[in-house]
Amino acid sequence: MKDMSVRSDFPIMDRLIHDKPLTYLDSAATSQKPAVVIDALADFYRNNNANVHRGIYTLSEESTLAYETARVKVANFINAGSEEQIIFTRNTTESLNLIAYAWGRDNIKEGDEILITPMEHHSNMIPWMLLCKEIGCKLKYISINEDGTLDLSNLDELISENTKIVSLTHMSNVLGTINPIKQIIEKANKAGALSVIDGAQGAPHLPVDVIDLDVDLYAFSAHKMLGPTGVGVLYGKEKILSAMSPFLGGGEMIDEVYEDRFTTKEAPWKFEAGTPNFADVAAFGVAIDYLDDIGMDNVRQHEIDITQYALDQVRKIDRDITVFGPKNLDIRGGVLAFDFPGVHPHDVAQMMDWDGVQIRAGHHCAQPLMRRLGVSATARASFYIYNNQEDVDRFIDSLKKGGEFFGDASR
Ligand SMILES: Cc1ncc(COP(=O)(O)O)c(C=O)c1O
Repeated sequence: MKDMSVRSDFPIMDRLIHDKPLTYLDSAATSQKPAVVIDALADFYRNNNANVHRGIYTLSEESTLAYETARVKVANFINAGSEEQIIFTRNTTESLNLIAYAWGRDNIKEGDEILITPMEHHSNMIPWMLLCKEIGCKLKYISINEDGTLDLSNLDELISENTKIVSLTHMSNVLGTINPIKQIIEKANKAGALSVIDGAQGAPHLPVDVIDLDVDLYAFSAHKMLGPTGVGVLYGKEKILSAMSPFLGGGEMIDEVYEDRFTTKEAPWKFEAGTPNFADVAAFGVAIDYLDDIGMDNVRQHEIDITQYALDQVRKIDRDITVFGPKNLDIRGGVLAFDFPGVHPHDVAQMMDWDGVQIRAGHHCAQPLMRRLGVSATARASFYIYNNQEDVDRFIDSLKKGGEFFGDASR
């Protein structure tokens, strides 16, 4: 496996956990940050900090430039036609809620249908459930196959004239499944439904081209792609954003205000009420530069290599470990959720922590999927650019040690 040689860019990798080297395998939850991003954030507060947009003075102009330049970088990163199609939010969850509230309330009526999948993160379920509870629309599901892929055999029946939104994840945070979103978006668009992609696991790990995808709206989070916490993105087609009502009201999003009425700015600023998270957005711009320098094709290739290696090593362990999700790396990302027979995932994670191996255990905000898989929780290792073969080896050694520790009880 080719090493990406970027590990030394990440200061946290020097940490010891219980006197063992840090093996960070929870990037699907949040990624670590390279020094350039950490330094950019500190540098911004040291040298540039001032509120954006309203100031006619140097510091505010610099701050505004950093904020708006990051918007351009994000637009280029996903090949959006214009930076005005990039809305900054707090996270993917807020981006998806924005759509449900702003577009949903204006366009969904009783009896309409919203089509999602059982492998969605709660963030791409609850906003639609809330909308349906309020309006009386109906949530429908594309089924999943045994191997963790979507069953698209009846997609033409599922997407009908009643379907107003089709919303699904680019890549599952549990199964690792990379969904054939282009094909599904095409069907949604043809039926006149709004196509929405939860790109929380897509944008950090896969090359994304929103023009090629022809997607209406695409949401993701900076913190999962080397950027700071507290920054989300919502990309939208220009005609959709300009017709969409504002989400939150207040400063920044208005044009003129009278005692009895107001007018709004154009998108994207119409959707950015209040002081935005400009310092973190500026640092996010640096994270985008960093990923651009590596190249998203290389990020993807590295994850294919490391995931293949990890899958091969797990299979060699003399236990009936179930790894969820597709086997084919063409349609699988760097997520490895598994069941260790007889041992609760929390115990697996805790045991690995003693070895410095940081994995997640739980329902991964995907309870309906857990039920389909017939488990209440899973353990999950997930990979990113800074992980190398040694990390996988430490993960496997720890897993084997755990097998011995739990002994026959785990059989
Ligand atoms: C597929 C998916 N969607 C949405 C989210 C929510 O992201 P955030 O918590 O940044 O809003 C996550 C986070 O793990 C995710 O994996």
